[in-house]
Amino acid sequence: MSFPTNLRLASVTLVTLAALGASIAFAAPPAKPAAPAKGAAAAPAKGNAAAGKAIYAVKCVACHKPDGSGGVKLTGNPTPNWKDPKTWADPKRKNMDAYMRDCITNGKLPSGMVAWGKTGQIKPADIENLIAYIHVLAKR
Ligand code: HEC
Repeated sequence: MSFPTNLRLASVTLVTLAALGASIAFAAPPAKPAAPAKGAAAAPAKGNAAAGKAIYAVKCVACHKPDGSGGVKLTGNPTPNWKDPKTWADPKRKNMDAYMRDCITNGKLPSGMVAWGKTGQIKPADIENLIAYIHVLAKR
């Protein structure tokens, strides 16, 4: 069985990519200018997309697809298509970063979306990195 080896390789790759992401974050100025302070929950993501990509590739691709186009239905709503401008125009996503932050933190259990933050599987800083990467996927 090669699965455990692959898993180990994947985690090594993840650590390497995370380190890479961190050094990029250190070297490059932030892409977005600092926003005026609002409520923490509504603040725009200030994550590092490269670091987010490494996590996305391991924990999110299965349901959200490598390009973020989604459409995978498990038990409730299908995964959203982040490539589609209509997704972003939906009023429930008016404050998209806050909406994504809430979904990644608390999940959407009836639909099969994991409460990654609440269960401690993904740290708040990495949730910001994931949100930044979803913006890259969606090109917006
Ligand atoms: C087991 C499948 C599954 C996995 C794995 C998964 N998701 Fe989800 N995700 C879903 C489903 C299904 C929804 C739709 C929930 C709903 O709207 O009811 C969703 C919704 C979301 C949303 C809300 C977005 C929107 O515009 O509606 C975000 C953000 C999100 N997921 C991020 C992630 C991230 C980041 C990961 C990896 C850490 C991840 N998901 C892993 C199934 C999954």
